[in-house]
Amino acid sequence: MSTQQSSDRPQKVTTQTVVEMKQQSEKISMLTAYDYTMARIVDQAGIDVILVGDSASNVMAGYDTTVPMTMEHMIYHASCVVRGVETALVIADLPFMSYQVTAEEALENAGRMMKEAGVHGVKLEGGKPVVKTIAKIVEAGIPVMGHLGLTPQSIYKFGTYKVRATEQTEAEQLVEDAKRLEEAGCFSIVLEKIPAELAEKVTETISIPTIGIGAGPNCDGQVLVTHDMLGLNKEFKPRFLRRYDDMHSSMTNAVQHYITDIKSGDFPNENEQYD
Ligand code: KIV
Repeated sequence: MSTQQSSDRPQKVTTQTVVEMKQQSEKISMLTAYDYTMARIVDQAGIDVILVGDSASNVMAGYDTTVPMTMEHMIYHASCVVRGVETALVIADLPFMSYQVTAEEALENAGRMMKEAGVHGVKLEGGKPVVKTIAKIVEAGIPVMGHLGLTPQSIYKFGTYKVRATEQTEAEQLVEDAKRLEEAGCFSIVLEKIPAELAEKVTETISIPTIGIGAGPNCDGQVLVTHDMLGLNKEFKPRFLRRYDDMHSSMTNAVQHYITDIKSGDFPNENEQYD
């Protein structure tokens, strides 16, 4: 249990806070979480924003893509995260096909995410095709984070997870999309796997914060998938990923130690049993 008095606690991060952080040139930190325990650790460590990403599909459910995630999956993960968080801003991904069919359905699903999971805003992928939908969701009072560049929900359209917008036409399109998302009312935009120079240009062009993943150092903030930065996943090694721990090895060692202690009769000892 935290021993901090509520008056000592850091202030809750809001969508306004992150916009002000850009204005004050303070970098924004964002990580993913999908469950109560991880969310509590990340929040208490002082992260600004927690994303309940649909990357839960990969790291929690073991799917190859984010396509299979449903509203029910995302609401379950998001509600677990919300219960673990005191100060961070919590944003949840709207899953594939929960916002692409009609703006009305998108608004209903964004509303469900807020009411049933208790998140503070939603994220959705794409540019021009989702601008009207975003405007409708924002008008209803729901904060929206945009997502441009590599948009994993469209993997079957693009066919690869390679760096996006390396060609001039796609780069110009991306800058236009970022402006459109700002006009539609997004409070920030994730830029995934695009050239660093282009991310810098977008960041200078719009007044809402950009949060980069594989988009270089000049975004207003950075996001990584927590399981990747903790080194829980040995196989995933993209160039943009910095590993801050090797938890795959430390967890494997702990489990092997436990097995050895059981087999040898060392666990439990006399202090680990009842009279
Ligand atoms: O789903 C996710 O984790 C994301 C981040 C990679 C930005 O969208």
